[in-house]
Amino acid sequence: MVAPIYRIQFPPANSERLTQDAVEFGLVTDDTVQMLRFHDYSEIYKRPGLYEELFYGRLRCNSPGKVMELLERALQTDREPLTELRILDLGAGNGMMGEVLNRHGVARLVGVDIIPEARDAAFRDRPTVYDAYYVADLASVGGHLHDELKQWDFDCLTCVAALGFGDIPPRAFFNAIRFIKPNGWLAFNIKHSFLDVDDQTGFSRLVRALVFSKYFDVYHLELYRHRLSMEGRQLFYYALVGRLTAPLPDDFLESHGIAD
Ligand SMILES: C[S@@+](CC[C@H](N)C(=O)[O-])C[C@H]1O[C@@H](n2cnc3c(N)ncnc32)[C@H](O)[C@@H]1O
Repeated sequence: MVAPIYRIQFPPANSERLTQDAVEFGLVTDDTVQMLRFHDYSEIYKRPGLYEELFYGRLRCNSPGKVMELLERALQTDREPLTELRILDLGAGNGMMGEVLNRHGVARLVGVDIIPEARDAAFRDRPTVYDAYYVADLASVGGHLHDELKQWDFDCLTCVAALGFGDIPPRAFFNAIRFIKPNGWLAFNIKHSFLDVDDQTGFSRLVRALVFSKYFDVYHLELYRHRLSMEGRQLFYYALVGRLTAPLPDDFLESHGIAD
C-alpha cells in the first residue's frame, strides 16, 4: 500500500516548555488543522505512514538503527549469531524496530504493545515482520498470557523509544525482563537524564539499579542523538545493550525503593 502524503504543521509557538508527551503538531487536511499530541499513538497509527513521516522524516529519529548497531556489536564480542535470537520487542508500535531486526534475520520476533492500534498498524504496514503480536499491559501479566509468552523462550528483549515518559512503567519493563532467559540480551534506549542521579523517577532508578547490579553486564552504552525536538534541538538518549547474568529476584523493584 502506498502511504498518503501528510501535511504536518508545527505550531507557531515555541514548544520547549512542554514535556515531550504534551507536544502537539497540526495535521492539515483541506481547510482544517487537526491538532494531535506526539503521544496520541492510536490516532497517529491509524494513518498509514504518519508516524514515519513525523518522527523519522521530519524529526530525524535514528534509534532503531543505533540500538541494532550496538546489539550486533555485542553479539560479535561473544561470537554469537544474531540469526538465532528469539526476541521480545516491547512497546513495538507499528514495527519500526521490528523491521530492522527482521532485516537481520532473527529466529523469532514477537511484539507487545498496550494499544490495539499499534498491532493493527504493524500488521497493516509490516505484515511479515512479527511471528506474533500481543496487545497487553505487562505491568500485570498472569495466567494464559504469561504461559503463552513463556513458550517463546525469549533470549533477547528490545525496547526502543518506549521507556518512561508516560510510556512503559518500571513494573512492565521488569516483568518483560523476567521473560528473558538467563544469559539473554537486553537492548534498549533511554532518555539522557535517566542515568543522572538527580533524576529520582522510578524508571531512572530502575535503570541505574540494573546497570550497577550483579544481574546484568553492560556491553555497550552510547550517548547519541535520538531525534530532534520540534524546535530543532537535538535530543540525546543513551542506547544500552547488555547481558543478563542471573534472573532478577522477585523483590528487585521493592528492594530498590522503586514504585510501579
Ligand atoms: C514512541 S512508540 C515506539 C514504537 C517503536 N518501538 C519504535 O521504535 O518506533 C512507543 C510505544 O510504546 C507503547 N507503550 C506505551 N506504554 C506501554 C506499555 N505500558 N506497555 C507496552 N507498550 C506501551 C505505545 O503504545 C507506543 O506504541
